[in-house]
Amino acid sequence: MHFYHERIPERIVHARGVGAHGIFKSTKDMSEYTKACLFSGHNKQTPLFSRISTVAGFRGYTDTPRDVRGFAIKFYTEDGNYDIAGNNVPVFIIQDAIKFPDFVHAVKPEPDTEVPQAQSANDTFWDFVTRNQESAHMVMWQMSDRAIPLSLRMIDGFAVHTFRWINKNGKATFVRYQWNPQLGVHSRVWDETLKVSGNDPDSQRKDLYEAIDEGNYPVWDFCVQLLPEEKEHDFPFDILDPTKVWPEEYIPKIKIGEMIFNRNVDNYFAETEQVAFNPGNVIPGIDFSNDPLL
Ligand code: HEM
Repeated sequence: MHFYHERIPERIVHARGVGAHGIFKSTKDMSEYTKACLFSGHNKQTPLFSRISTVAGFRGYTDTPRDVRGFAIKFYTEDGNYDIAGNNVPVFIIQDAIKFPDFVHAVKPEPDTEVPQAQSANDTFWDFVTRNQESAHMVMWQMSDRAIPLSLRMIDGFAVHTFRWINKNGKATFVRYQWNPQLGVHSRVWDETLKVSGNDPDSQRKDLYEAIDEGNYPVWDFCVQLLPEEKEHDFPFDILDPTKVWPEEYIPKIKIGEMIFNRNVDNYFAETEQVAFNPGNVIPGIDFSNDPLL
């Protein structure tokens, strides 16, 4: 029975992932806007675990298909676990959650051939996105260099959804999160990606593991965009729509902390494979918006 249970079913999306332990350090006191304990005070440190993944491929596929990267964070705060499930692009493929199973069925292998294994180069993917115009924005990101990163230490993270921060007086502010690598965002060119994929399908998980092992810890600037609730209708687009970005020239990005990956896992299966992120895991000071996808 022990032997048989060395396997559990893989995630239906984001099956191939790599994880690391780390620390969130707050660099700016945000208690004016939220009572969430991790964002209050200077230099407050909160342990975290993060898992970075590809979306479509199977668990045993390569690290480097053309695909969006998932970037999930679990903060172990004194008020309980707070999970943020992000991606390395700022928008999502659909606005309406009920379309998610159809989209995933479209992007996953065809039923007769079980092709493709990890990339979205199939007719059903193109059928879906051409019939759902809200997908156009994310498809642009998917077909950009962002989808073929040089290293997982060099990708952005975006929580995509709009959340609400609640302060101690009960006042709410809309918030979008993003985290940007201090190494900068870097990508490969397509030909190089294809060669790396064939030469070493594990290149990106090794790169992350080895950097942390050598003490070369990757760091992300953790940022928010804040919008008072009264300003919800001040824009020519729906600010709660997850297929739209909040333009940084109108809603500036504020750095509120740093996220450092500083410890590898001891046991991939126990720590990385079995970690479970749930956007419903929130702590006091964090609330949900009417973002229809959320
Ligand atoms: C209606 C919308 C969505 C649905 C129904 C959905 C569903 C799922 C499901 C079923 C999983 C697998 C969970 C597991 O087996 O542990 C998953 C994983 C994930 N999703 Fe989504 N998702 C949605 C939107 C999003 C969005 C907008 C983002 C990014 C902002 C996102 C990021 C992720 C990430 C990063 C993971 C992998 C977490 C891990 O590393 O374990 N998802 N999602």
